[in-house]
Amino acid sequence: MNSDSARGRALLAWFQAAARDLPWRTRPAGQRDPYHVLVSELMLQQTQVSRVVERYHAFITRFPDFLALARADVSDVLALWAGLGYYRRARLLHAAAIAIVSHHAGRMPRDINAIRELPGVGRYTAGAIASMAFALPEPLVDGNVTRVILRLEGRELASDEPAAQALAWRRAAELVAASDHPGAFNEALMELGATVCTPANPRCSACPWSHTCAAFGNQSQSNIPRPKKRAARQALRLECVVLLDALGRVLLEPRPATGLWAGLWHMPSTESHGRARPDPADLLNSLALPSTPLAPAGSVKRTLTHRDVSLRVWAGRLSVRGPKLPGRAWFEPHALPAMSSAHAKVLERAHHALGALHKQS
Ligand code: ADE
Repeated sequence: MNSDSARGRALLAWFQAAARDLPWRTRPAGQRDPYHVLVSELMLQQTQVSRVVERYHAFITRFPDFLALARADVSDVLALWAGLGYYRRARLLHAAAIAIVSHHAGRMPRDINAIRELPGVGRYTAGAIASMAFALPEPLVDGNVTRVILRLEGRELASDEPAAQALAWRRAAELVAASDHPGAFNEALMELGATVCTPANPRCSACPWSHTCAAFGNQSQSNIPRPKKRAARQALRLECVVLLDALGRVLLEPRPATGLWAGLWHMPSTESHGRARPDPADLLNSLALPSTPLAPAGSVKRTLTHRDVSLRVWAGRLSVRGPKLPGRAWFEPHALPAMSSAHAKVLERAHHALGALHKQS
C-alpha cells in the first residue's frame, strides 16, 4: 500500500469530522458548481476567511452565474467586492465570466489548460476548479499547503523560496494523485493548514498526519517554514479632503486604473513627503472651488501588504451646489460608487465631524 494513499484517507476522515461550515461548501468538493468555486477561491486569495464569509452570499445572490456576472457593469461588481481588498481580482473575475460566456458557451471548460487561460486564473485557482468542481486529480498549493508540506517533509525553507514551491507542488501532485477524492483531498489539505498546522502553535495532537510528519518527529515545527525576507513597507501619508456641497453630495474622483485601490473612487487627496504636510485648502484652490473652512476629522490607518497607509481626514461643506468639475463627480450619500474600506472609513469620520460641527453652530 502506498503511504500517500493512506495519508489521503487519514486526511479525509479527519476532514469529515472537522471541516468548518463555510457558505461555499454546499456540496462535497469534487461536485461543486465551478462558478461557486471560482468566486470563492478568488475571494479567498489574500483575504481572510471571515471577511469572505461576510460577503460571499451577497455576491452570489446578486450574480448567481457566469452569465449574470458577464452582463453586469464592472462598477457593480466592484461595489459588491468592497471590503475584500485587492480589487484587481474583481475585475479579473468579471473578465473571466465574459471569456466563459463568449468562448465557452457559458460553461467552465473541463480541461486544466483551458481553465488556466482564463483571466485571473493561475496555477492555484486552476487546480481548485479542476479538483473541486470536476474531481480531477490536479494539485493546488497555497500558503497553508506549502507550510503543511514543508513540515511533513521536514524542510527548513522559507515558503516563497523556489525550492519550497517546487517541493510543495511536487508533493501536492503526488498526494492528490493517490487520493480517490481529489477535490475533497485538496480542500482538506488547505483546511489542515488553516486550522491545525497553523504558523504558530500548531495543534499537532489533533493532526491526522503527525505520526508521519518529519517536523513533528524532531520537534522543528516552529522553525518551519523559515521566516520570509520581507522588504520594508513603504509609508504613504495622504491628506484627504471630504467636501460636501449644499445638497449633501460628496466630491469624488476615480483612482488610476492600476496600482493601489485601482479603479475605485476616492476623495481628492494629496500625498505628504518627508516632514512637509501639504495644506488641504490648496486642494480646493487647485480645483477652483470656493474656499470653505476644513475641519480636521482624525485619521485612518491601514497596513497593506506593501504599504503603511495613513489618511488624514479634512471635512468641509460648501454653501452652494457643487459645480461640475472635469474628471470628478458629486455623489449622493445613498448612491456612492465602489470605494476602498479605508476611504469608506474616511467618509464616515468626516460625516461624524461635520455632524458635530453642525450641532455646535
Ligand atoms: N483557502 C482557500 N480556499 C479554501 C477552501 N476551499 N477551504 C479551506 N481553505 C481555503
